[in-house]
Amino acid sequence: MTLRVAVIGSGPAGIYTAEALVKQAQEDVQVDVIERLPTPYGLVRYGVAPDHTSIKSIANYLRRVLELPEVRFLGGVTLGEHLSVEDLLGGYDAVVYATGAMVDRKLGIPGEDLPGSVAATDFVNWYCGHPDVSASMFTLDSPEVAVIGVGNVAVDVVRVLAKTAEELSSTDVPHDVLERLGESQVKAIHMIGRRGPEHAKFTLKELRELGELANADVCVREDEAVVLGGDFPRQIRGNIDVLRSWAGRDPVGRPRRLDVRFWLRPVEILGTDRVEGLRLERTRLSEEGRVVGTGEFETIPVGMVLRSVGYQSVPLPGVPFDERSMTVPNEAGRIREREYVAGWLKRGPTGVIGTNKSDAAETVRTLLSDLAGHDRLRSAPIDALLGERGVRPVTYDEWLAIEAAEGALAKSLGRGERVKLAGLEAMLRACRP
Ligand SMILES: Cc1cc2nc3c(=O)[nH]c(=O)nc-3n(C[C@H](O)[C@H](O)[C@H](O)COP(=O)(O)OP(=O)(O)OC[C@H]3O[C@@H](n4cnc5c(N)ncnc54)[C@H](O)[C@@H]3O)c2cc1C
Ligand SMILES: NC(=O)c1ccc[n+]([C@@H]2O[C@H](COP(=O)([O-])OP(=O)(O)OC[C@H]3O[C@@H](n4cnc5c(N)ncnc54)[C@H](OP(=O)(O)O)[C@@H]3O)[C@@H](O)[C@H]2O)c1
Repeated sequence: MTLRVAVIGSGPAGIYTAEALVKQAQEDVQVDVIERLPTPYGLVRYGVAPDHTSIKSIANYLRRVLELPEVRFLGGVTLGEHLSVEDLLGGYDAVVYATGAMVDRKLGIPGEDLPGSVAATDFVNWYCGHPDVSASMFTLDSPEVAVIGVGNVAVDVVRVLAKTAEELSSTDVPHDVLERLGESQVKAIHMIGRRGPEHAKFTLKELRELGELANADVCVREDEAVVLGGDFPRQIRGNIDVLRSWAGRDPVGRPRRLDVRFWLRPVEILGTDRVEGLRLERTRLSEEGRVVGTGEFETIPVGMVLRSVGYQSVPLPGVPFDERSMTVPNEAGRIREREYVAGWLKRGPTGVIGTNKSDAAETVRTLLSDLAGHDRLRSAPIDALLGERGVRPVTYDEWLAIEAAEGALAKSLGRGERVKLAGLEAMLRACRP
């Protein structure tokens, strides 16, 4: 008998899980990777910044997993819409949920819902061409923009705002989005951290890239770059050194300016019909190490606020969920009998792509040890069920047709290797002409 496993989600966690199942299982195994989009790779396709082509090439590794004879891709199938947990447990010996973290964390301040106050999740989806967000969603008509947060996503967002359309032309950014980026009125970008340079979450390589922007001057205030104490790990020391070197730098008149700010927390997004400003309070750390306000305020006249303060997972219908940690409670990947979890849904939205590989391997070790010696299910796969419900999954070959259409589009536009097709319809037209 064959061990049949459904993996829900085709991001790095889902695909590394499929790979680990094939590698670790001591018996025949068949893995269905079920994905709500017609396209695989999760945030590698719809998160990793378009100008980070070497990181995006990790898709070439993930592709080889989907091409294994033991693995099948079923795109356009959503758990909670087309299939339920009961359906999955009826058709597979085990299920691994790897649906990531799709929504933004909230700031919880007045004005957060004003037009012009934007979650980084939406903005990233926009420039990555995610089918949930249309190309017309954003017009960059404000000369000043604030980006809240000093993590790597904030750095990505800042870079995309600071680069010109020409600089992004060879990337896979959808063409309509590139045109909107070309019309951008943005002149000043304020990136705002609520603690000091020594607490920033961005990594050194990503920070350094900001200093290499061809069309933006990067500025840091001397007083905000001061860091007391000196016993920091190498990465943090590196960040501090880079920021301090910028603090002494005069702008050289590039068309855009990036101000990296520290020790400021957003207290209100101002405006009546849309964002007109951002009120910030200077902060310090309390004796217990908490961020507290000093009662000193400043307002910056921005027309757009991008909130990049982290992602969070959403509950899956019928699957346990901890509303405090916003993850699925588990022990080494086990949720309960025959149900497992991997990736950001398991441990929260932290870590790089590679972190999901060891994480998935742990889940698979637990799964295989739990199921060792148990009888295999004899029920039919879910294909018939999907057929009855009028759902025709996007196959791996159909995904390759979408990819080929994106290559052809890039060629016709004289842009790079690939230009993303925007919207579900365009993708389905490309694979089912
Ligand atoms: C903006 C951004 C940029 C990043 N850039 C980098 C980078 O440059 N380098 C790096 O190392 N790491 C980067 N990361 C981190 C990296 O992307 C994550 O570690 C990784 O993608 C998490 O993998 P995952 O499989 O858990 O989630 P995801 O990649 O989010 O995959 C989840 C998948 O599940 C699918 N799904 C969701 N709900 C359902 C459902 N109900 N039914 C079926 N399918 C569903 C989704 O469509 C998605 O394809 C970045 C993260 C973000 C947010
Ligand atoms: N190139 C890459 O390798 C790359 C690119 C993108 C993403 N990623 C990874 O993906 C993961 C997610 O990245 P992320 O940037 O979304 O999250 P993150 O690293 O957790 O950063 C979130 C930022 O938001 C700040 N923040 C949180 N709540 C806030 C609030 N209420 N007010 C003001 N600021 C607030 C945090 O400050 P505090 O520290 O004070 O809480 C922090 O600076 C990370 O592991 C990241 O490394 C990697």
